Amino acid sequence: LAQQSLEQLLTGKRITITAGPTREEIDPVRYLSNHSSGKMGYALAIAAQELGAAVTLISGPVNLLPPANIQTISVTSAIQMHEAVMETIHNCDIFIGCAAVADYQVQKKSNQKIKKSDSELTLTFIKNPDILSDVAHLANAPFTLGFAAETQNLQEYALGKLQRKKLNMIAANDVSDSTIGFNSEQNALTVFWSKGEKKLEVADKQLLARQLMHLVAQRYIEESN
Ligand code: CTP
Ligand code: CA
Repeated sequence: LAQQSLEQLLTGKRITITAGPTREEIDPVRYLSNHSSGKMGYALAIAAQELGAAVTLISGPVNLLPPANIQTISVTSAIQMHEAVMETIHNCDIFIGCAAVADYQVQKKSNQKIKKSDSELTLTFIKNPDILSDVAHLANAPFTLGFAAETQNLQEYALGKLQRKKLNMIAANDVSDSTIGFNSEQNALTVFWSKGEKKLEVADKQLLARQLMHLVAQRYIEESN
């Protein structure tokens, strides 16, 4: 594969990738988020660049350095990530939604720190926009790859997302196994598309990202011919 990766399969192509978690503010000192490290998205950005693509990386808050020579846009909330994606998606050939976008945001963010009281605290959450689905439903939609993080019914849920979100491909991630996936160095994926599937065995995220980008490039080239 190393040899194949050197082929500049994506020269002249533009790729936008979302990565990391989003952070949903509750009050000036608190937020709701998740364990995404951003490593997989950053590894994909590097792998796409290796294949010759011009990459835009739109990242939630992570403890990673922006990859060299990759345009990286930092955002915090799902709404900000949605805006940044929609501003940069024009002329994009491939979109990869790798971010663990918070599904909900707090309905009423408090301007002041919420004080402890004698009663329990109830917060109401409203839905965030689905960035990946919105991109895939654009009139001039790019080729799309999504991720499905699941703790059960991996294939069924992943295929449901492939269909509902109108994606070209989906990479399913079993997050019930804490040794891989979220916040880990390694990952394993099963990738589905309308006419096939491929299992990418447990590997270092950078190696896995190279394998996945190569598969995406192959599918993209095949489907745009
Ligand atoms: N995604 C997104 N915007 C959201 C939620 C998810 O772009 N508001 C993208 C993720 O980046 C990922 C894919 O959608 O590529 C699937 O995310 P996932 O959380 O697995 O699926 P959901 O559709 O949010 O469903 P659920 O969390 O209930 O499984
Ligand atoms: Ca979700």
